[in-house]
Amino acid sequence: MNAPADLVKVVSTAPDEVMGYRAYTLGSFSFRRDEYFAHISWNTRDGRPLSHTMDIGNFLRALMRDCAWGFFYGGVNFDAVFGTFNHYKSVDMYAGSYNGTMKAAGVDLLENFPTEQIKATFEAMLDDWTNAGFDPFAAPQETGTPYGRKNGNSHAAITRARELATRCVGLKGDLNLRTDERGAPVNRAFADVPQDHPELYPEPGFENEVHAFNLFAFLSRSQVTWNPSFTSVVKYSYMCPTTEEHILPILHANDRVEWFFQMCDEIHWDCADKNTGKPLARVIMKAGDMAAMPAYCRHQGYSPKRSMLLVWENGSPNLVYEIQKGESPEVPVQF
Ligand code: PHB
Ligand code: FE
Repeated sequence: MNAPADLVKVVSTAPDEVMGYRAYTLGSFSFRRDEYFAHISWNTRDGRPLSHTMDIGNFLRALMRDCAWGFFYGGVNFDAVFGTFNHYKSVDMYAGSYNGTMKAAGVDLLENFPTEQIKATFEAMLDDWTNAGFDPFAAPQETGTPYGRKNGNSHAAITRARELATRCVGLKGDLNLRTDERGAPVNRAFADVPQDHPELYPEPGFENEVHAFNLFAFLSRSQVTWNPSFTSVVKYSYMCPTTEEHILPILHANDRVEWFFQMCDEIHWDCADKNTGKPLARVIMKAGDMAAMPAYCRHQGYSPKRSMLLVWENGSPNLVYEIQKGESPEVPVQF
């Protein structure tokens, strides 16, 4: 059994006297932040010191998702250099290992950690480095600045809990999606989304078992961006709709095929080889389009205006091993 998170030691320094932020160490990697940047340092495979710099807003948006999604499916690249790869009981953290040029030069480093250990370190860093007024899940136009010296905290925004349903949402005793009562206002970009509810005529006696809700109305009130929610779960088929604005803060390298259904507006995707980062495709998705991302690619989306996207995942815990053994394909269809 993994140790509970609060028993896992997080290695950090005292707050910096000028900037106010703590620095963190995980394995051979160290992390510090200043007013504008996250700085990551490590010793390369052949023993030379190397560092990498990321805009702190981009770093925190990626870190937020890696923490909230429990390291997600497969690879979460914060950018072309740094990221994590989920093995579901342990997590690889790397710099340069999925960057063809750095790998060829031998300046990459990958280390594996028990999930609880990397989780505790990432959560502590996210908490210490996220200032009051900055919400890493919010669209850039809807939140304050990530920059500057240490200024309070943003606990409420970074510890948002998922709303959990125990049966079909909206049914008696479960989540109330009659959205006005939830106090979630319609987003400015979705002012034209109808807020009516489906008409329901269950047979007498089935009123508590049959239900439907307006998914577009539900999504129009989402407070967050690039954060898929499990809205229906049928065996391992997970329908995960989400609202997107600006840039997906990670380059996702899935360990399985994943489907996208663009429900309104548009998203532009950059797809690349997941091992090297070599560009593979541009995918421009407009309302009504569907696409499948093969398991060998990494992908990052750009949504010029807040849009609705349905992410369809096969959540089978065996799939990744079936693909490794060649029993399941890396592509959705073979022509
Ligand atoms: C993805 O990596 O496929 C992904 C992640 C978050 C989203 C949408 C897509 O909101
Ligand atoms: Fe993905």
